[in-house]
Amino acid sequence: MRRPYRFAVIGCGFFAQNHLNAWADMPEVELVATCDIDQTCTEAAAATFGGKAYTDAALLLKEQELDFVDIVTTPPTHRMMVELAAEAGVAAICQKPLAWDMNDAKAMVSAMDSRGLPFMVHENFRFQYPMRRVKQVVDSGAIGRPFFARISFRSDFDVYANQPWCKDAERMIIADVSVHQFDLTRFFLGEPTRLFTEAIRVNPEIRGEDAATILLKLPDATCIVDTSYESRSDHSTYPQTFVTIEGTEGTVTLGPDYHLQVVSPTGVTEEDLVIPAHDWASQPWDCIQDSVVNVQRHWIECLDTGRTPETSGADTLHVLDLTLGAYESLETGEPYIVGSRL
Ligand SMILES: NC(=O)c1ccc[n+]([C@@H]2O[C@H](COP(=O)([O-])OP(=O)(O)OC[C@H]3O[C@@H](n4cnc5c(N)ncnc54)[C@H](O)[C@@H]3O)[C@@H](O)[C@H]2O)c1
Repeated sequence: MRRPYRFAVIGCGFFAQNHLNAWADMPEVELVATCDIDQTCTEAAAATFGGKAYTDAALLLKEQELDFVDIVTTPPTHRMMVELAAEAGVAAICQKPLAWDMNDAKAMVSAMDSRGLPFMVHENFRFQYPMRRVKQVVDSGAIGRPFFARISFRSDFDVYANQPWCKDAERMIIADVSVHQFDLTRFFLGEPTRLFTEAIRVNPEIRGEDAATILLKLPDATCIVDTSYESRSDHSTYPQTFVTIEGTEGTVTLGPDYHLQVVSPTGVTEEDLVIPAHDWASQPWDCIQDSVVNVQRHWIECLDTGRTPETSGADTLHVLDLTLGAYESLETGEPYIVGSRL
């Protein structure tokens, strides 16, 4: 593979616009094609960002010589797209959640691994600038050994306007948001060993759960992951994630509006983090949009160096195990022993 890496974006809907804008700023890549079953979407993307517009991913992979595909369709088509890429000998990034089912996810990882193809999941929350800063604090030892964390995502933002599929999804906020929080738990603290879930539906017009709390046990720590799309507050903080990590020597807190506080034996530091700006980004999405840029830069660095992506397909099986385990716990009313599906 040589720069500029030739690639295609498959799925040109709501979130793909962030991918397309972020790629457009990167000279390391060349957009060769776009693809969406909705002809208007693929043609609009190609007209704005370049490349040939396709409505059939198989045809695209047959006709074009690519280095990788960026899959931004919704989960039911992820396995099919990854397997098409594998058969064509093309590396892939795939949006989260990787799959609804562990068998599908394992099949995707195996299809790519058996051909030695780089495979990354677009798990972007750990690539948010504020999360990288929290991680730096934890890794610096400033708060000592972490023993408690809370990772919280709550708002009453109307997510259904941009993501109508969330209304009909039988499994909703845990699959949509907690999946990211589980990855953050692992990023900050390591692998959980056990979890327990409580969740409810507050909005009567949707099918799945829209408020969930998951308690995770780690070897030396406890973590609470909580999320809701029905939480009113004095001002909207969507789509911010709040983090508190308590350690044996201090506490790091990422609060509303990206306020970072570190309490350590050397004192208290406070900082209002400034999210890196991009001319295509817009409020309130700027932090998420910047994280898309960071994911894509990480992918290019991995292609350049041969390094395994932080959120490789194989690594993401752990996140899926936590996500499916959270639903199993909800259904059984019992704790889930993490790793049972791996
Ligand atoms: N990481 C994040 O912060 C974040 C945020 C939002 C969405 N997402 C993820 O991004 C993915 C896409 O979500 P979205 O909200 O953009 O959905 P969307 O429905 O707006 O876009 C998906 C697009 O895929 C197209 N598509 C479906 N089947 C196809 C096929 N067989 N071939 C080609 N195109 C096909 C659809 O026509 C649609 O345009 C999901 O996996 C979602 O979880 C991630």
